[in-house]
Amino acid sequence: MKSVTVNQNIIDLEYAVRGPIPQRAAKLKQQGKNIIPCNIGNPQALGQKPITFYREVLSLLENPNIIEREKYLYQNPINKFDNISNHAINVSEKLLTTMETGLGAYTDSKGQYFIRESVAKFIDKRDSINSSKSYLQSNPDNVFLTDGASEGAKAVLELLISDKNDGIMIPIPQYPLYSATIKRCGGTQINYYPNEDNDWALNKEILEDSLQKAKYHKIDVKAIVVINPANPTGAILDSSSIMQVIDFAEENGLSIIADEVYQENLYGGEFISFAKAINNRKIPLFSLHSASKGYYGECGQRGGYLEVRNPPKINNSEIPFINLLFKLSSVNLCSNTIGQALVYLMVNPPQKGTDAFDIFTKEKRTILDDLFNKATLIRNSFKNMDGMECFGKIGALYLFPRLNKLPDNSNDFDYCMSLLEETGLCVVNGSGFGQKAGTHHLRIAFLPSIESLKNVLPSWTEFHNKYVNQ
Ligand SMILES: Cc1ncc(COP(=O)(O)O)c(C=O)c1O
Repeated sequence: MKSVTVNQNIIDLEYAVRGPIPQRAAKLKQQGKNIIPCNIGNPQALGQKPITFYREVLSLLENPNIIEREKYLYQNPINKFDNISNHAINVSEKLLTTMETGLGAYTDSKGQYFIRESVAKFIDKRDSINSSKSYLQSNPDNVFLTDGASEGAKAVLELLISDKNDGIMIPIPQYPLYSATIKRCGGTQINYYPNEDNDWALNKEILEDSLQKAKYHKIDVKAIVVINPANPTGAILDSSSIMQVIDFAEENGLSIIADEVYQENLYGGEFISFAKAINNRKIPLFSLHSASKGYYGECGQRGGYLEVRNPPKINNSEIPFINLLFKLSSVNLCSNTIGQALVYLMVNPPQKGTDAFDIFTKEKRTILDDLFNKATLIRNSFKNMDGMECFGKIGALYLFPRLNKLPDNSNDFDYCMSLLEETGLCVVNGSGFGQKAGTHHLRIAFLPSIESLKNVLPSWTEFHNKYVNQ
């Protein structure tokens, strides 16, 4: 058979979250070892229960024939656990009427208009923008519903990168979607390094430093990616960091790609959206959000959105940026309709006075409190591990401690592999996300049950102190 040459960019790209350590974990599991999978932010795979209200609505949307039956049951309950909430029935009916074509038909390539309108309203409400500031309001025409935030990020990068001299600044460490997509599009990754010892804060010097290095190599930097709250560090950016990114982007004519998929995973910290912080400054901004994280955790349903503000002007075409994004989305026909419906539910949570409100609120609180408790439990255990240091407020779904002490000839990959072999705990080595030269880290997703964490933490501590002191 004749061999083919394939795309070198795809050969070169890396994705550590599903790399050699998780692959080894899968093998060990097959052999019967108990594995505690803390390598990936996939909440429902680790037992997080879906929000009841979402699933009630989705089930009715998929099977509208049972709506009448559910209405009857609501009026004539057999027992109180039997019936779907009246609110879910109403929302499903409203969605089906407004969607017109149901879940089985392609939609507008940007997604259903009324859902995009809902997203725009959600953004305005979140950022306290009212009609007196209509010039700051989100525009549904600039909202794209996507198969998870990943698709939105990829579309923007694909459009911005025209050749290998086009640079995209990304934080190090970073979520590998960015390095992989830049590689796949044939652009150049420009690293910048949030200040770990200052809770991963940013300032203009850090950003300037990386931009100057790129310019020295004749790279035309197009955009800066900011992930807030961050994956893998879990850090939450303060307002000074955010404002310095904005000033820097404005001074250097860069677009900002704000990955804000963890905006609900704060556990006490404050989330400031880039849309709000930019205010009326004319800086191109691409904001991403998703139904995969937060308390929703619906990773597999692939719901997300991309919101564009101040789309950049284009040198080599008369076609406006938004229309080019639209063209790209048209090639994919549309994002999946279940994901679109979930985004609608994400931006329209049940309100007080509806019968879904109490359960929804309780489930949301339970999930977020549980995540915070697990993160705190793990973080406290670092105190008993020699040379283990963890910076930043707790956000997202991850802790990213630094391994200050490792034996000679060892690195974070070796550490994480040995940790897996010894204890069954599967985490990702810091080098999989990039890190400052000479430092070593690991990323742990705080998702497994509190019981399994309580079981494994003493063995981790024991393993750690033995490993680093060998
Ligand atoms: C920072 C960040 N952005 C985007 C994504 C992808 O999200 P989605 O499932 O919405 O594509 C993830 C997933 O872990 C992430 O951590």
